[in-house]
Amino acid sequence: MDPVTSKLTSRDLCRVAIRAVRMSWAADPQGVLTVAGLQLTTAVGLAGALLLLRDMIDDVMPLAGRGGAGADLTTLVSGLVALIVLGTAGGILLTLSGMRQQILTDRVDRHVISLVLRTAAHTELGEFEDPDFHDRLQRAVHAARHKPAMVIMMLVTMMQAALTVLAVAGVFITIAWWLLPLATLTALPLFKAAKDERDARYAMHYSLAENHRRRQYFEQLLTGRDEAKEIRALNLGATLHARWDSEYARELTSMISLIRTHAGREIVARLVSSALIVGGIATVWALVDTGRVSLAGASTGLVGLWLLSTRMTMASRMLNDMGQSLYFLKDLHDFAAAATVPPPRPAEPALPFRTLRARDLTFTYPGVDQPTLHGIDISLHQDEIIALVGTNGSGKTTLAKILAGLYAPTGGRLDRDGRPANDMHQLRHGCAVVFQDFIRYKLTAHDNIAFGRVEDQIHDSRIRCAAESAGVAALVEGLPDGYDTVLGREFTNGTDLSGGQWQKLAIARAFYRNAPFIILDEPTAALDPQAEADLFARIRQLFAGRTVLLISHRFSSVRSADRIYVLDAGRIIEQGTHAELMRTQGRYADLFLTQAAGYLDGNHLVDEVSGDLG
Ligand SMILES: Nc1ncnc2c1ncn2[C@@H]1O[C@H](COP(=O)(O)OP(=O)(O)OP(=O)(O)O)[C@@H](O)[C@H]1O
Ligand SMILES: [Mg+2]
Repeated sequence: MDPVTSKLTSRDLCRVAIRAVRMSWAADPQGVLTVAGLQLTTAVGLAGALLLLRDMIDDVMPLAGRGGAGADLTTLVSGLVALIVLGTAGGILLTLSGMRQQILTDRVDRHVISLVLRTAAHTELGEFEDPDFHDRLQRAVHAARHKPAMVIMMLVTMMQAALTVLAVAGVFITIAWWLLPLATLTALPLFKAAKDERDARYAMHYSLAENHRRRQYFEQLLTGRDEAKEIRALNLGATLHARWDSEYARELTSMISLIRTHAGREIVARLVSSALIVGGIATVWALVDTGRVSLAGASTGLVGLWLLSTRMTMASRMLNDMGQSLYFLKDLHDFAAAATVPPPRPAEPALPFRTLRARDLTFTYPGVDQPTLHGIDISLHQDEIIALVGTNGSGKTTLAKILAGLYAPTGGRLDRDGRPANDMHQLRHGCAVVFQDFIRYKLTAHDNIAFGRVEDQIHDSRIRCAAESAGVAALVEGLPDGYDTVLGREFTNGTDLSGGQWQKLAIARAFYRNAPFIILDEPTAALDPQAEADLFARIRQLFAGRTVLLISHRFSSVRSADRIYVLDAGRIIEQGTHAELMRTQGRYADLFLTQAAGYLDGNHLVDEVSGDLG
């Protein structure tokens, strides 16, 4: 979005400020009330102190004029004691308020981060393809990380400024009401400067969001454990560091230029503001001189003027930070409002299907011109193992994601038992996918398997059964803490697994999911030949009564499938059993023979192929 159009109007700011209050209230209503109560008490104390000061001056001035200072020392001392008591009480209230503010901040912090995480978790997968979404997410995360403290500071400062104005204004009404507009006027230049900086800073953040994300990406590459080995093997450290540095330099340059510009503006605003204060003092002096205002009234008025002006300056500075916080809070709100997927429904049984059929299905990735899949027609039946083969980038994983309900097709239709399968949640619910790039959860082995179906109550016996089916039970039981062993080395007492062992665990997760439709995308890429052969020998029995879609580049694994579909550049170009496809001598046969030639010598190959054709 263009930074200029992303400016907020004062009305927007008010709306966001109300949201900030609501957010704080939702996080810790008692904290908001306590802090507000303490601020109110402080303001009342301030008004009392001002009135007391005026009375003291009133009492003392005539005595001093008559040369009788000390004649009524009791009045002076009791007044001073009252002032000290008020001052001390004010200080204590300030400490208490500060303490409560910290707790309130932490609670708001948690509330806001939880909002971002919940929204991110409920956002459709398609959104993650959009760089603009990542910019919004980045700004929302930034808002969540850095702004809750600002929100509280903002609320408190607003309260302080408003209450001080009320307290001092109340006192002014009895002394010199006309000082109030003057005091407000002195703060205006600073408010204006603060607003300009706020807009400029937000526009800068907007324009640098992608820059910032790239910098963070380099940080991840340079500090991540998974990345560490390749970065060292390729000696990429210095190169990536230099790229990070240049991204950072760009951010710094913008930031420094903004700070300089603003410093200049603020100095001018301060000079104007000071000139207005001097003007105010001169006016008061002239009025005292002409006898239109009493000296006591003028003195108290000037103290009030000073108090108001310092509070206003503080408020303007705060308004600046606060304005930025509000901008970020708006980002946060916009981000939260854009969540597209409703929260998961309560657990319900994943119903099996007899047939899942794609008809003339087309798919184009968001933000991409050309479709990745064209006119796909496939049928998957219960109790069948269907294989999907094709060269890299032919669209196998993309088709798997659509069948798993992760993307909606952009054309054609998907039917479950003859009815349109438009409910993506239902598709997901009834499907277990092992992705090519499955996640290695750096948690316990138990979690790694149980995450297969978190909606249901977790059954340890089923976890063990799933591990058994995936051929990983012996390994897990041999770990230092069995199923409770933390995997990966990121956390204390963690034990790392080999790539193949992680993959078996991912397969165990799919078994545990207990879904009627199973998609295995390169499930054996990291398995040794024995483990792969074991898995395939048992797959039909393990998934009996279900539907399995098997994506693999290993033709030895797909040849026993009930039907094989060959994808090429997003289209199904062949289908049939292994024997049928070999007889056709088309693309499948080519790919099969190419791979087989790598394993067998010429004679074996001839025997093998004639067997298939035979
Ligand atoms: N998220 C995405 N956004 C845009 N295009 C994508 C995305 N994911 C994949 N593609 C493109 O879609 C095409 C098919 O990718 P896909 O991952 O489905 O291939 P594949 O057949 O699974 O390949 P492989 O054998 O390498 O796993 C590729 O050209 C790829 O560049
Ligand atoms: Mg793939």
